[in-house]
Amino acid sequence: ATQRTFSIIKPDATKRNLTGKINAKFEEAGLRIIAQKRIQLTPAQAGQFYAVHKERPFFGELVEFMCSEPIVAQVLEGEDAIAKNREVMGATNPADAAEGTIRKEFALSIGENSVHGSDAPETAAEEIAFFFSGLELVG
Ligand code: CMP
Repeated sequence: ATQRTFSIIKPDATKRNLTGKINAKFEEAGLRIIAQKRIQLTPAQAGQFYAVHKERPFFGELVEFMCSEPIVAQVLEGEDAIAKNREVMGATNPADAAEGTIRKEFALSIGENSVHGSDAPETAAEEIAFFFSGLELVG
């Protein structure tokens, strides 16, 4: 079924001017970018977005990294968009990512891994609502 997922192009990628190359990967996979904005997160915003990870040892580093440069927040729409996006992104750790995936081609490390994508329909809905109003989703 047609689905929506939430995506972030992370600071390591915006800094290296990779927004267009990453968007091309999404579009080639049949994902449509139906909302997109470039913003710079505050630590409070990044901490709230990643609240589920706040007990992890890498939480502080994650928040600091996500605020270090602008990000591009986006909503992707398509057939099985959540799974399709995860396939295009590749494994979280670029060392484990398959050939042709975004993380294989562009990610620097498990932290600086170029993109975030929702892992399930419930988190997709929450993450989309965190960044976008309904009026900003133009399918
Ligand atoms: P993301 O999908 O954005 O969700 C949580 C992020 O935490 C994850 O991608 C990784 O980039 C990051 N992360 C996971 N494990 C580590 C780690 N060991 N060190 C630093 N960052 C990590």
